[in-house]
Amino acid sequence: MSLKSIDPTSTKAWKKLQDHYNEVKDHQMIDWFAQDKKRTEKFQLKWENFLVDYSKNRITETTKKLLLELANEVDLKDAIQKQFRGDHINQTEDRAVLHTALRGNDKPKEVTETLQKIEKFSEEVIVGNWKGFTGKKITDIVNIGIGGSDLGPQMVVDSLKFYRNHLGVHFISNVDGDHVLETIKNLNPETTLVVIVSKTFTTQETITNANTVKNWFLKTASQEDVAQHFVAVSTNLEKVKEFGITDENIFPMWNWVGGRFSLWSAVGTSIALAVGFENFQNLLNGARKMDEHFSTTDFEDNIPVNLALLSIWYNNFFDAETEAIIPYSQYLQRLVPYLQQGIMESNGKSVDRNGKKISYQTGTIVWGEPGTNSQHAFFQLIHQGTKLIPCDFIGFKKSLHGNKDHHDKLMANFFAQTEALLKGKSAVQVEEELKALQLDKRAELKPFKVFEGNKPTNTILIDRLTPESLGSLIALYEHKLFVQGVIWNIFSYDQWGVELGKQLASGILEQINEQDFSKEQDASTKSLVKYYLS
Ligand code: F6P
Repeated sequence: MSLKSIDPTSTKAWKKLQDHYNEVKDHQMIDWFAQDKKRTEKFQLKWENFLVDYSKNRITETTKKLLLELANEVDLKDAIQKQFRGDHINQTEDRAVLHTALRGNDKPKEVTETLQKIEKFSEEVIVGNWKGFTGKKITDIVNIGIGGSDLGPQMVVDSLKFYRNHLGVHFISNVDGDHVLETIKNLNPETTLVVIVSKTFTTQETITNANTVKNWFLKTASQEDVAQHFVAVSTNLEKVKEFGITDENIFPMWNWVGGRFSLWSAVGTSIALAVGFENFQNLLNGARKMDEHFSTTDFEDNIPVNLALLSIWYNNFFDAETEAIIPYSQYLQRLVPYLQQGIMESNGKSVDRNGKKISYQTGTIVWGEPGTNSQHAFFQLIHQGTKLIPCDFIGFKKSLHGNKDHHDKLMANFFAQTEALLKGKSAVQVEEELKALQLDKRAELKPFKVFEGNKPTNTILIDRLTPESLGSLIALYEHKLFVQGVIWNIFSYDQWGVELGKQLASGILEQINEQDFSKEQDASTKSLVKYYLS
């Protein structure tokens, strides 16, 4: 069954939220904290080893109540049930959306078999039983893929660096030849194993890179050696075989797994190679726990649901243009680029589930970088700029290497930023600080030193960065974006918007090859291509 189609702006809750927004928009959160000693308790969720504090948001209990009413009015519960039981909720592609089945307790047979295959394969490579064509052990893995076939595995391999084994793992995604040539220049074909990941096995970038790497390999090896050095993850078995990869080296995936939600499938083979199968399994377990939380917990205490509703509150009522995600862990430096695909490829839609043009804002723009680095880069704008930028702060109670001095400093900054964004600094405080200066100098400097504060943040404080907690964190954002898509009445699981550029690029490539400018084309693009060829 397909998802219901309810225009969120036609709901009673939406109208109530609009009125409520006008009542609360100018209130200071800090006053609400002063008035209600239990505010933090009321707006905190504890789950497993996660603490989610959303008390530093421009909300009251009424806001929460109305946002929950909105979720109920669009029948979010029904949508969640439909997703988890495998209804074809990806309607425009007529597909189920079952990445949750990849990590569930009762996995489909083909998923269990594929996991067993990944386990066996990764163990053989890690312990050195899998040999290259000259009998040497594998030292390096090259993952070739793009979008969901790259960002997920790369982000997890990077985030779990602490848990890595001896294998070097490299990622090639861009069709920019400098990316592939730079990556392979120091690799030895005798000890390199290539994992080609492409759901469709037709993606220009991936196939071009795969051919370049195969040609590099064949300079020193022969065709029959390909079997020991190339494996593929795909739904398109025919194309994989055409490429020269044999059946036993193919890890299947299924069209009910969207590319940007596929790291839990065989797309995660590079993860299992990098950190071992047990850690990969723990990543899946962490995600499964979040799935259970999301699908069974009342919306009131449901972490993804609450974070999704808050995001809608800012996006649709405060007209916030963007949201920032700031992980206070250098290990998570690739988390935001990964989430950008998940969130923006899913919810960047302007047509509703009836095919009608939408009159309200959808898809949030997400961006961010790890703290504390980002404090010395773009935080100025968050603190004193003209835009309202709700932020998620993600931090860990314990560091992995256990250096307390560093970790205390890191976390002091983590807490201080959300405190500063909440409280700001008033003109009175600034004056007090400038007391030592002469009167005229004081007056001159004062406006520049005032912080308005009242900037919303969520704090997600996790015990430790482990494969399991990372799995839960990723699943949290997956579910958050789904909830938002349901409420915005859009289809989150297709991505037609990436097609036009691909089509035009193939036409321009033909134009470049044939140097033919006779076809109808806008003057700017034509002149640019001519200049490129000159
Ligand atoms: O960017 C469009 C897209 O289809 C993504 O959704 C997908 O993750 C990526 O291309 C790669 O596709 P494939 O795995 O089929 O090569």
